[in-house]
Amino acid sequence: MNLAKSLALSTAFAIGLGAVPALAQDTAKGKRLFKRCAACHTLEEGGKNKVGPNLFGILGQQIATAENFRFSNAFKELDFAWDEAKMDEFILAPKKMIPGTKMAFPGLRKEQDRADLIAYLMEATTTSTADATD
Ligand code: HEC
Repeated sequence: MNLAKSLALSTAFAIGLGAVPALAQDTAKGKRLFKRCAACHTLEEGGKNKVGPNLFGILGQQIATAENFRFSNAFKELDFAWDEAKMDEFILAPKKMIPGTKMAFPGLRKEQDRADLIAYLMEATTTSTADATD
């Protein structure tokens, strides 16, 4: 998973440098927003799958590869790695981006909310992978 990690790290860099000041991210706000996802998703390394898959290290990761989770056919047919653009599109309107997904979430309309949430997802990922080995 080294590639995924370095991807996630470089994406974190890119967003940190590129999006200021037009859309400065507030990871504390992102953490609060993640509570809406936490009903169905855990974020910590090795966290369990709930209604949705564990999201540890999701940025830079290939879609539908979480272990021991039964993805919808709509998901299994897709082939891309999650980056901030894909994540933004998905969180805005999951069923519009991926018709047939079983993720029952209406979407976050506000661009700032999505930016904050994605920044938090990156932070949570990069912080906890810092000394992990695999
Ligand atoms: C009601 C439960 C539910 C909520 C709330 C929810 N999700 Fe999901 N999520 C799912 C399910 C189920 C899937 C698997 C989708 C499929 O297989 O079609 C999924 C899949 C995903 C994936 C793709 C994972 C992968 O391995 O490819 C991401 C990313 C994701 N969710 C992020 C979020 C975020 C961010 C939020 C909060 C804004 C959120 N989800 C809220 C249930 C939920």
